[in-house]
Amino acid sequence: MAKQLIMPPDNLQERIVYMERVRQWNFASHMKRKVYVQTFGCQQNEADSEKYLGMAVDMGYEQTDIPDDADLIIVNTCAIREHAEKKALSIIGQYKHIKAKNKDLMIGVCGCMVAQEHRREELKMKYPYVTFTLGTASLHHLPRVLWEAIETKKRLITTDSSEDFTTTVAEGMPVHRGSDYRAWVSIMYGCNNFCSYCIVPYVRGRERSRNKEDIISEVKTLVAEGYKDITLLGQNVNSYGKGTNTDFADLLAELDTIEGDYWLRFMTSHPKDASHKLIDVMANGKHIAHQFHLPLQSGNDVVLKAMNRHYDMERYMDSVLYMREKMPDVTITSDIIVGFPGETEEQFEDTLKALSCVRFDMLYSFIYSPRKGTPAAEKEQVPDTVKGNRFDRLLATQNEIALSQNSPLVGKKLRVLCDGVSKGDSQVYSGRTEGNKIVFFDGNPAMVGQFVNVKINKAEAFALWGKVIK
Ligand code: SAH
Ligand code: SF4
Ligand code: F3S
Repeated sequence: MAKQLIMPPDNLQERIVYMERVRQWNFASHMKRKVYVQTFGCQQNEADSEKYLGMAVDMGYEQTDIPDDADLIIVNTCAIREHAEKKALSIIGQYKHIKAKNKDLMIGVCGCMVAQEHRREELKMKYPYVTFTLGTASLHHLPRVLWEAIETKKRLITTDSSEDFTTTVAEGMPVHRGSDYRAWVSIMYGCNNFCSYCIVPYVRGRERSRNKEDIISEVKTLVAEGYKDITLLGQNVNSYGKGTNTDFADLLAELDTIEGDYWLRFMTSHPKDASHKLIDVMANGKHIAHQFHLPLQSGNDVVLKAMNRHYDMERYMDSVLYMREKMPDVTITSDIIVGFPGETEEQFEDTLKALSCVRFDMLYSFIYSPRKGTPAAEKEQVPDTVKGNRFDRLLATQNEIALSQNSPLVGKKLRVLCDGVSKGDSQVYSGRTEGNKIVFFDGNPAMVGQFVNVKINKAEAFALWGKVIK
């Protein structure tokens, strides 16, 4: 029997009650209070921010893009690397001036950073104008915490309850989506893997999966509303359903039967759970994008073991070869960490060799950043200069590979989902392929949010160029 992990009903009731109170309070004030949500970090955080915004809008706030105009600011933070935390703290620091102008401003700091006790202490002591904090597993408590802050005028520096952190899956939250043709759908929360460098399991709690029926109904609605690119999200998306009688491949196969013209993709997968069954479902699917983001982290087995990744290069290459056999057009992307504690020059060179062997279409590379409380942070560190040097060499190697992966696409016709005018040039439109590659082309406003066919005439390492064809 499937273990049903659902939101306790009294939690849902709590949310409805407090949302109504805040809504009435906003209504009674006769002023149009505004909310500004600032997001750091990964797609999971973006998806969470759409829920924060959804709840705030439902409670009577109007969305603004200008923090100075806001009466409620929510900063959704990331803790993956030190740089991400520094950036969030610096922005929160700047909000002091807005608070000085508007004493009724409420600032909530949410997300991964505040799940750490030392960061909550820091916010308590050094940022006295921060009104409340909420951990990632507590976002559905926003209405209650907001109402308590309004009523008591006290600061509420809180974090996740152990129940929320381990079992709660909050359903039914209003979502204010940032796009009307690309959508995120969280299908599971948390991570149990405890890779030795990573903070995520400490700040996002234990793995818990949404019910299949809830996911299917959400995706059905999105397709019916005209969404064309739907990404299933989870820290470890292919461990969906563990401990129940379903798995990620089954879920994907079932979602693929939904009628419509759309792409379905997912991230992030863990190589240890990338099964042939999953790859078969992708290859046989109608809507499933032939794109696989499979973070390798290192190309050396000793380092992989020290990272607690539970696979080796042989296992990883098996997945890659099977994918390429079943889907010759597959785009494979990855994450690499350089300068993991103890990484030797030879071990780093194994990573370079792995890049040449796998030939990723795109790579997200990171310099290792020690995270307080994780085992790797206690180990002897690689000097910064060595890390920097390795990082540069990694990028140089990957740039050549990416270019050689993109070059054969010249002359090909690709289906592209149009995003609108490109950032640099209002005459040029940009979009993404099924493999999530960026394409620049001669678009027009009617194409935004639509699929167009583009004939590729130029390829670079990070983008393709082409002309729209009928
Ligand atoms: N759950 C996903 C990704 C999580 S974070 C996975 O397991 O693949 C995204 C990426 O950040 C990771 O893949 C890793 O490459 C990087 N990362 C995580 N912790 C890091 C750290 N302490 N320093 C540098 N990069 C890190
Ligand atoms: Fe972090 Fe590893 Fe979990 Fe990914 S699988 S979130 S890298 S602990
Ligand atoms: Fe950052 Fe949390 Fe995502 S730490 S990368 S926002 S899961």
